[in-house]
Amino acid sequence: MADEGDGTGKHRQSRLLTDDDGTFDAERARDESLPVEDGEVIDTDDLAEHQHYVEGRGIYDERNRVNDLTGKEWKYATKSVIAEGYPPAVQHDLRSEHGGQKPPRLCAELIGRFSKAGDTVLDPFAGVGGTLLGASFCEHEGTGLRDAIGFERTERWTEIYAQVLECENEERRARGEPELATQEMRHGDCADLIEEVDDDSVDLLLTDVPYWHMDELEQTRNVNETRESKLGSFDVDEAGDSGTEAEDEEVTGDEAEFAGDAAETTGDAAETATKDDWLADMATKFDRFTDAVAPDGHIVVFIGDMYRDQSYKFLSADLARAIESTAPVTLAANLVWYDPTKDLHVYGYPFSFVPSMVHQNILVFRPDETDE
Ligand SMILES: C[S@@+](CC[C@H](N)C(=O)[O-])C[C@H]1O[C@@H](n2cnc3c(N)ncnc32)[C@H](O)[C@@H]1O
Repeated sequence: MADEGDGTGKHRQSRLLTDDDGTFDAERARDESLPVEDGEVIDTDDLAEHQHYVEGRGIYDERNRVNDLTGKEWKYATKSVIAEGYPPAVQHDLRSEHGGQKPPRLCAELIGRFSKAGDTVLDPFAGVGGTLLGASFCEHEGTGLRDAIGFERTERWTEIYAQVLECENEERRARGEPELATQEMRHGDCADLIEEVDDDSVDLLLTDVPYWHMDELEQTRNVNETRESKLGSFDVDEAGDSGTEAEDEEVTGDEAEFAGDAAETTGDAAETATKDDWLADMATKFDRFTDAVAPDGHIVVFIGDMYRDQSYKFLSADLARAIESTAPVTLAANLVWYDPTKDLHVYGYPFSFVPSMVHQNILVFRPDETDE
């Protein structure tokens, strides 16, 4: 983009804004309201046809079909680790009845990376609506509203989403802030509801998958135990098997406790009694979901790994492989959401190394190109 001072005039203004040492004075440039990108003043007359400068955000390339980010923002968004704790917010107490809810602002961040204003976002395992709320936040805290559709088979969670939105908007009105848009939460099984979604009509599928039944029972137990434990406590088991898993660590913060379906007692027991059944079920479902996703869309999936039976269960890798081998998609990235505010619970000490799970994986898939 920049030329290095070969006399063509690009970035020529930067040379007028040097300090005593002859280095570029970005602070002075900012004071004078000149656009600065990568440490140099932008000569906006020199941008290519397909570029324009967005005040305070940098250069936007109109060929960008992935998101609304400027080059500078895009560069930041390619970071493979999101190191961010999301303090309890957005009617957290209400949402935490679920136990596997995701922070809406983390969802908004991902929606901003993988969609454009006006796009359609689908969450087939919507829970209490982290994705839907995130899509609404994009209107006020991002580049514009996305339309979101959620499927959720437990009616209680759909009711909580509605309640969260109502309470949140009441508070926003009282603060004089604009309301969050109501998104479409549909009650039912995603395997049925996906049939009502047109092919290629979804730009981003963002979801957080349910775990299999065996773990739901385990998670309920572990979450209860963890709730009682204190930071710094040593829950030691001489065998070095804490019985813990990623979910155990997820009891604080904006509680992506991915106890997943811990609070959910119905459903998949027979369908997904083992890990292999669960992987097969997810692979089949994502194969069908992919039909709904536009060719230049993305499929983004939260999945936590676990520690179980004295070994690390690489669920994210297993799930990525299962989905890729069934659905016509390619894994483009594994992002890591690291929550630095998570409490640590030490299980193996002093006998065995058991990881404290303070991260979750976010698998990013792209639909494969077809010949059509
Ligand atoms: C991990 S949670 C998602 C939590 C969500 N991200 C949030 O912020 O609340 C997975 C959800 O999928 C739902 N679920 C599981 N199987 C389903 C199915 N076949 N159809 C629709 N929803 C399903 C569960 O009830 C659960 O609420």
